[in-house]
Amino acid sequence: MSRRLLVTGGAGFIGANFVHHWCRVYPNDRVVVLDALTYAGNLPNLKLVQEYENFGFVQGDICDGYAGQGQRTLVDKILGAENIDTIAHFAAESHVDRSILAPGAFVQTNVVGTFTLLESFRQHWETKAQPENYLFLHVSTDEVYGSLSPDDPAFSETTAYSPNSPYSASKAGSDHLVRAYYHTYKLPTIITNCSNNYGAFQFPEKLIPLMCINILMGKPLPVYGDGKNVRDWLYVNDHCQALDVVIHQGKPGENYNIGGNNEVENISLVKTLCQIMDELAPDLPVSPAEKLITFVKDRPGHDRRYAINANKLKTELGWSPSVTITEGLRLTVQWYLENSDWWKPLLSEEYQAYYRQNYSQ
Ligand code: NAD
Ligand code: TYD
Repeated sequence: MSRRLLVTGGAGFIGANFVHHWCRVYPNDRVVVLDALTYAGNLPNLKLVQEYENFGFVQGDICDGYAGQGQRTLVDKILGAENIDTIAHFAAESHVDRSILAPGAFVQTNVVGTFTLLESFRQHWETKAQPENYLFLHVSTDEVYGSLSPDDPAFSETTAYSPNSPYSASKAGSDHLVRAYYHTYKLPTIITNCSNNYGAFQFPEKLIPLMCINILMGKPLPVYGDGKNVRDWLYVNDHCQALDVVIHQGKPGENYNIGGNNEVENISLVKTLCQIMDELAPDLPVSPAEKLITFVKDRPGHDRRYAINANKLKTELGWSPSVTITEGLRLTVQWYLENSDWWKPLLSEEYQAYYRQNYSQ
């Protein structure tokens, strides 16, 4: 059976990688992207699939048109016109630092937007003769579980939610709504909670692309606090493969954690990036690149450690990550080296203004 997917946020980092994966592996499936093209959404991310005959793109806001019962939203129209059976929901405000500077958009898109989608999808699904063929995949984060101490066990699917930033609180709110729609209406939903992703097409205000680009430009590498915060890094292609498995084999009503088994302190990660750049990039403006490392003021409320226990996905659905952090980082650095045409236009006046605001606190 071929699927008809609506991918929200498909012009963002993970969504675009997911669309590439899906169009390559399932060329007979219809893939429609709905994306508002915020600062983080970038149409060139979808260049590779523009010519693909089953691909469609709609520029629009997932919240658009919601005005209470009886109003048709933009999403209602797309679900009907495209006869969608699967929503892969990536659209979100996703950057913790921006959620500290301006939290309002996070509540709007992450909570209200997810609610709007759930309502539309429920009404669409309720009229169908074969409701078992429908799925709402909600892509969420490990940050909903809060922060770990060094000796705590990794987050599992039963860890209590304890979000600490406006970003993670808004994602937790959206997860609770998704859960409630399964519990109350039996809407076929699945929630995935993944760790920090890295790879091609990541907007250069997240740690890894920001460091790669600053090294190439000879700019300081701003490490927050003591640099000993730990993240569990997941290569984005592995994440997309995990989502593929979840869509095809996951059980509605379940949550699955997705992680890379790669816990690393930030300072150690940044030093590794510097070493790979020293090796792969000729003529760096500052060499060795480590000379650029600069400790800066810590992020307010900075979560100390995230770690994912992804055993459920491994034992129940047979997925585990395919690349080590060393392999994934080399592939990623190589990609940023070869794709300055992609990232240079993103360093816009708006980006510079954000950068000044975030790093001058
Ligand atoms: P991103 O910020 O790169 O992309 C988000 C996309 O959503 C952008 O294309 C943006 O234009 C779009 N968007 C934002 N608001 C919208 C709206 N109101 N209507 C329609 N489109 C809108 O994010 P990402 O890193 O690709 O993350 C995708 C999902 O994965 C998010 O839900 C995020 O919470 C989750 N996640 C990300 C990571 C990570 O490391 N990047 C880790 C865990 C979970
Ligand atoms: P980030 O990529 O923003 O992801 P998240 O906050 O969702 O984990 O940051 C990853 C880690 O790197 C986090 O501990 C904050 C830290 N960090 C820095 O030290 N300097 C930076 O300039 C950025 C953007 C992040």
